[in-house]
Amino acid sequence: MVNKITSLAEYFQKYNESVANPEGFWANIAESHYWHKKWDKVLDWNFEGEGAPDVKWFVNGKLNITENIFERNMFMRKDQVAIIWEPNDPKEPEVRLTYGELFEKVKQFANALKKLGIEKGDRVAIYLPMVPELAIAMLACARIGAIHSIVFAGFSASALADRIIDAEAKLLITSDGGFRGAKSIHLKNIADEALESCPSVKNTIVLHRTNEDHVHWVEGRDIWWHDAIKGVSTENKAEVMDAEDMLFILYTSGSTGKPKGVVHTTAGYMLYAEYTFKNVFQYSDGDTYWCTADIGWVTGHSYIVYGPLLSGATSIMFEGVPTWPDAGRFWDIVDKYKVNQFYTAPTAIRALVAQGDQWVKSHDLSSLKVLGTVGEPINEEAWRWYHDLVGKGRCPIVDTWWQTETGGIMITPLAGITPTKPSLATLPLPGIQPILVDPEGNELKGNGVEGILCIKFPWPGMLRTTYGDHQRCYTTYFAAYKGLYLTGDGAKRDEEGYYRIIGRIDDVINVSGHRIGTAEVEDAINQHHKVVESAVVGYPHEIKGSGIYAYVICEDLSDKEQATIEDEIRATVTKFIGPIAKPDKIQIVSGLPKTRSGKIMRRILRKIGEGDATNLGDTSTLLDPGVVEDIISGAKVEV
Ligand code: WTA
Repeated sequence: MVNKITSLAEYFQKYNESVANPEGFWANIAESHYWHKKWDKVLDWNFEGEGAPDVKWFVNGKLNITENIFERNMFMRKDQVAIIWEPNDPKEPEVRLTYGELFEKVKQFANALKKLGIEKGDRVAIYLPMVPELAIAMLACARIGAIHSIVFAGFSASALADRIIDAEAKLLITSDGGFRGAKSIHLKNIADEALESCPSVKNTIVLHRTNEDHVHWVEGRDIWWHDAIKGVSTENKAEVMDAEDMLFILYTSGSTGKPKGVVHTTAGYMLYAEYTFKNVFQYSDGDTYWCTADIGWVTGHSYIVYGPLLSGATSIMFEGVPTWPDAGRFWDIVDKYKVNQFYTAPTAIRALVAQGDQWVKSHDLSSLKVLGTVGEPINEEAWRWYHDLVGKGRCPIVDTWWQTETGGIMITPLAGITPTKPSLATLPLPGIQPILVDPEGNELKGNGVEGILCIKFPWPGMLRTTYGDHQRCYTTYFAAYKGLYLTGDGAKRDEEGYYRIIGRIDDVINVSGHRIGTAEVEDAINQHHKVVESAVVGYPHEIKGSGIYAYVICEDLSDKEQATIEDEIRATVTKFIGPIAKPDKIQIVSGLPKTRSGKIMRRILRKIGEGDATNLGDTSTLLDPGVVEDIISGAKVEV
């Protein structure tokens, strides 16, 4: 078993050890895992040069991640609950799956996948709501060496198709529909629309969830989940994988172009998910842990499924939303299951702050030991509310900074060990070597500095490539500063050496903790036939952290068109990406601030979106400085 750090002194000792001898440090942790064959070498790496990035952990090691979840834990935990599933509707009964039961289901579904011809290395797209079958499907893929690519069930048909096409998935696993609060979403219809442009998909497995009356069916392609497993054996031997075989692809947004498929591999990801889960949350045997994320995002991958299950934890999976049937839902669930560790996003906290304290005060919450946040910077007010009201001042808050690309948590307090400060992610985990640089790439040494956050040494959970386009991985993350992984975030190191994450320094917006690329939203807006050009920026939003502000140039609009254009633009974005990317504010403008070379000066648009026109910087290089005045006078915020 992976040991936990238990004191601050031990943290510093481990940290120093991990920097002095990273290979020894990680090899020692890997010793506690189940391997078919151990590695020949702990690490081979290069962030620069031919083929870079080239990162290999546990070279030539052979294993299967599901054997490390099941076979390794089975002796002790066969009858222990692995997953508690809380349905959207509190009147529906919950589901508890023990390690033994989950194992049977995973093996059976793995065999069902094999029967459909899915083999090691094949890509399987999964588009499911938050139901236990989502975890079963992903683990079954891992069991047979198929690469899962989970697509958040809030994405549109077009966004789903893009991801399926890029990964050339052979199979899609979906459901008739999904429940979210008072709504139900007809996922199968969306999937059918997506599949019109996805020739690689040979079969669809469809789970019964919402019992939709009329489920459109393609004979020969579509199979009900319950039919796919009917009479299928639960005997299954795990596929033996290389340490560096792909485990999954997860698409994420960047500054430019379409979302990229971040690739994680087997051994390194496994180690990192388990090590970080245990240490950050200080999970102890018998605890009940709940992460409110959706498995469609990386947080759900690493901290609902892989990290907790590798650690033999009891992990709650919640199908619904924080405010339905009322704003006390989170706290109902905490009390119902006596949750010990609770992990959520600042946007959810802010949304609940706005609903009033009574929803929290009417609950016991005495089971809570640790509170966590992830996804965006947490403002001090939300931190204090979380700490004082939810945690009653006795639960440490772990403000965990990390990314889809990092596979697991990177900078964070260790619960109850690292002294915390509101809004600071504090210190790097052992094995993580952050560095702050100025825009020219010079290291900012010492404390009390602010710069661009990079990482200078590989860690096991890091991405290995972007699917189908290795060069893009290099260009996005390693080209800016030689020898460093570029996170895309700005950060401050305070006088004590604690990190405060300031936020993205590129054209990525963090909307309610979801990463959205401005270029993607612009591309979607530009699909509207009346739109000539658009520019999208983030602006401060009380609940979402950042909202989306779109400045749009349209062809001549009639009065009638003017009345509906904003709604139509929002509908277009919903169609091409999904409701999460809908602009909050749309301003129709006659021109955009462009330099003589045609580049949009987003800095100016961001400032206006923030409501601050006092300090727009040098506008003399603009082709037409007059547009700035026009934009300010029509701005959708008070400037
Ligand atoms: C932001 C989510 C401040 C950051 C796990 C990062 C945070 C992006 C924090 C990654 C935090 C995540 N404090 N900012 N504790 N955690 N971020 O890929 O901008 O969806 O680059 O991964 O979220 O988002 P992603």
